Amino acid sequence: MSGLPDIAFPAAGATTDAVSAALAGMARGDADWRGGRVPLFVFGATEDVAQVGRSAFNAYFTENALGGRRAFGSLFRMEQEVLAMCRDLFHGPSTATGTMTSGGTESIVLAVKNCRDWQRARRGDAAHRGNLVLPSTAHPAFEKAASLMDLPIRRVPVAADLRADPVAMAAATDADTILIAGSVPCFPYGVVDPLPALSRLAVERGVWLHVDACVGGFFAPFARELGVTIPPFDFALPGVASLSADLHKFGFCPKPASVVLYRSADLAPGFDFDVWPSGRFATATLVGTRPGGAVAAAWAVLTFLGRPGYRAIAHRLLAMREAYVEGISAIAPLRLHCLPDLSILAFGSEDVNIPALASAMAARGWVPGQVQHPPGLHLMLSLLHEPARERYLHDLTAAVAEVAA
Ligand SMILES: Cc1ncc(COP(=O)(O)O)c(C=O)c1O
Repeated sequence: MSGLPDIAFPAAGATTDAVSAALAGMARGDADWRGGRVPLFVFGATEDVAQVGRSAFNAYFTENALGGRRAFGSLFRMEQEVLAMCRDLFHGPSTATGTMTSGGTESIVLAVKNCRDWQRARRGDAAHRGNLVLPSTAHPAFEKAASLMDLPIRRVPVAADLRADPVAMAAATDADTILIAGSVPCFPYGVVDPLPALSRLAVERGVWLHVDACVGGFFAPFARELGVTIPPFDFALPGVASLSADLHKFGFCPKPASVVLYRSADLAPGFDFDVWPSGRFATATLVGTRPGGAVAAAWAVLTFLGRPGYRAIAHRLLAMREAYVEGISAIAPLRLHCLPDLSILAFGSEDVNIPALASAMAARGWVPGQVQHPPGLHLMLSLLHEPARERYLHDLTAAVAEVAA
């Protein structure tokens, strides 16, 4: 048994009404993300942002961004403009270049691949199998990259403040280290790693520093403009070789959309094969066909919001986060694992059985995000969660009481 449902390929077609009704029926069983009950996977800003993204996506529903250069010049132009806007946002030099990708994972896999190839060329060793030194909180996308390329990974425990420990990472780095990384912020605890110190380490050792700003790339710059203390984390730091930032997370663009940027084009040769009867095949991405809609929608949302729009959203997100922090802190004996830098919260208590608390929240209709070390509940808050706050805190209070009893 494969575990797949016992369903045959449709022997007859269905009407459009029947298909729509079936879809709506299936969705009825899903978690209520529109009501703010899903603390990961989906992100929302305002309805007009969603509408701008949706209509641009639909306008380019059929076009394929793989054909940007040869057939769909408008998509090629929009992709270049999105990348140029991001280069500006992340203080890239004029030499900086990049690619739009399908998401954080593809952006990270590409950065590791380009790093490996650049390091091999630099070392004159086409078979060099360099290691990656990562904080324990780095996203498993790095493991995917390393497993695809058979590269060893050294995960280094984070410091007491749950941020990457540059001294411990320096100790784990050796002559075969090709890449170190830090997150803005890390997913498990929501704190930003000390990128200035990691940049100094990268420069000293001649290793590639990748900044994983997949979560915070379109939030942290605006939070900083609003006065939140986040140290520099982007190409303003000389050691940063590449940076990933997901448009489909806090960029509030339709999925699938992320960017990976490089300090200069020589760091990102991409793929270029001349091996088959159809001639040369050169792409910067791992995937071939790419939805034109995602490119057009990203261009539309960035253009629609601009800096003031993102700043206004960041302002609302930070105010909402504060209200969640206050509300959660008022529920004894819950405590935050650390103060969040953006809008990821992790909290728990040694006196509360966290898996039981998660089940009690699930029974109340919430999808409970969890973190394991130490055990806690996990929230990645977007504006979808603004109207849900009081209900969430009410149910959390009841769930803690139930579990304690
Ligand atoms: C810090 C971080 N990096 C990378 C990723 C991977 O992004 P994606 O799911 O878009 O591949 C995530 C996903 O949550 C993340 O939190």
